[in-house]
Amino acid sequence: MSEKVFIFDTTLRDGEQSPGASMTPDEKLRVALQLERLKVDVIEAGFPISSPGNFESVRNIARSIRDCSVAGLARARDADIDRAWEALREGANPRIHLFIATSPIHMRHKLGMAPDQVVEAAVAGVRRAKRHTSNVEWSAEDAGRSEMDFLCRIVEAVIEAGATTVNIPDTVGYTLPHEFGERIHQLMSRVPNIHRAVISVHCHNDLGLATANSLAAVRNGARQVECTINGLGERAGNAALEEVVMALRTRRDIMPYHTDVITEEITTASRLISRITGFPIQPNKAIVGANAFAHESGIHQDGMLKDASTYEIMTPASVGLATNRLVLGKHSGRHAFAERLRELGYQLPEGQVERIMQRFKDLADKKKNLFDDDIRALVDDEMVREADPYKLTRLHVASGTEDTPVAAVEIQVNGHAQRGAGWGEGAIHAVFNAIVNLVPGANEVRLQRYEVRAITGGIDAQADVIVNMERDDRSVQGRGVDNDVVVASALAFLNALAKLARRPAEQRGGV
Ligand code: KIV
Ligand code: ZN
Repeated sequence: MSEKVFIFDTTLRDGEQSPGASMTPDEKLRVALQLERLKVDVIEAGFPISSPGNFESVRNIARSIRDCSVAGLARARDADIDRAWEALREGANPRIHLFIATSPIHMRHKLGMAPDQVVEAAVAGVRRAKRHTSNVEWSAEDAGRSEMDFLCRIVEAVIEAGATTVNIPDTVGYTLPHEFGERIHQLMSRVPNIHRAVISVHCHNDLGLATANSLAAVRNGARQVECTINGLGERAGNAALEEVVMALRTRRDIMPYHTDVITEEITTASRLISRITGFPIQPNKAIVGANAFAHESGIHQDGMLKDASTYEIMTPASVGLATNRLVLGKHSGRHAFAERLRELGYQLPEGQVERIMQRFKDLADKKKNLFDDDIRALVDDEMVREADPYKLTRLHVASGTEDTPVAAVEIQVNGHAQRGAGWGEGAIHAVFNAIVNLVPGANEVRLQRYEVRAITGGIDAQADVIVNMERDDRSVQGRGVDNDVVVASALAFLNALAKLARRPAEQRGGV
């Protein structure tokens, strides 16, 4: 029997902290539901005291998720811990996750506390959390650069105080695999009560070693790995869930451990995060990149045709990579369409299925071949703009080599039609200016990023536009999908404006 390694996903907390990756509460819930399908053990849903929006979002996730433990982050302070509990208490198996820094650099420069004071605060924090729940995780921030004697001392003290999981983060991604493995080995052999807690690791990827360090830790006794989908996270990110899980699954011959993750859900989770955050996945990214299972060279293709094991160490199906199937056409029935949505992992209410099916049929009039990725893009687009007050109803653009580009736009604002026009240096600039003339406050918005991507191959592919916009130090992302890149751009701009119009409290908060 292999031993289990618990998977603690922090995409919604550490992942969301990375600049430009903020998610709305609805988007976070969708991610949490996908993580539940993936069957991770713990979902870290956020940092409840950091903002009212973050609190609400953690509470909403804790209420909705039944099959995973939901965790909320807190500093080792009473107010943080009580607030985290307030958000988590209705969860199925809530966990309070508290942390304090333990490295000389952090204790001196960040906390301004002596080591004894840090031990005292950590123990007091764990005791406070234990008043609320037995499921308490404690983290030694910057453990990778902490002094080993001090780390052993504080870990023993927090376990004595009741911590059931002790997390050893390599917060700044500084350690090397043999060194990090040795740290875990030392803890396992020197801390007398270590077997009363699960040892966890949380590795950042600043030197590209987060997955290697996590695996080295498992070899030396860690039984929980903290990670994120696509390796999202602060700076260079965290250990990627898909890499850790597939490494354990693929190399069970020398790593006798397993996780409960349904690996066939990995691709869906990865695409969902990429679409919601707007962070593209590099084509050669391990496990989830577009080329991860592509074989280009003649020699490789020849080997693959003879036997897939020549160049494939895991199957595409094992990570849920069904071939991007050519799907239904405009004559497909409602039943077949709804069934395909279910197969792709979407459980949607009736009304939404109808609307997406209508868009799918419209698309089928314009596009020759329709793929699963087209359906995914339509579903995501529908969800992205469902609650938006601005609906694009008409758009006309004239542009070319000779005349000044001009645009006329009609939008519904909370059900009322409004028309406006604008001109610019190019077609998209003209459309944006027409929208600026219609939406109050839109002229104060700054465009930070504009990106367009084709969803599938082919000249008639749908365009997926991402814009990042900033106003008053708030940065949001808007998305739009359409056959026409100019329409997709208008949709993305309106989506960003709708997000900016929402209360600041809905925005994220980080450590
Ligand atoms: O990287 C880190 O140390 C963290 C802690 C808050 C767990 O994210
Ligand atoms: Zn972290």
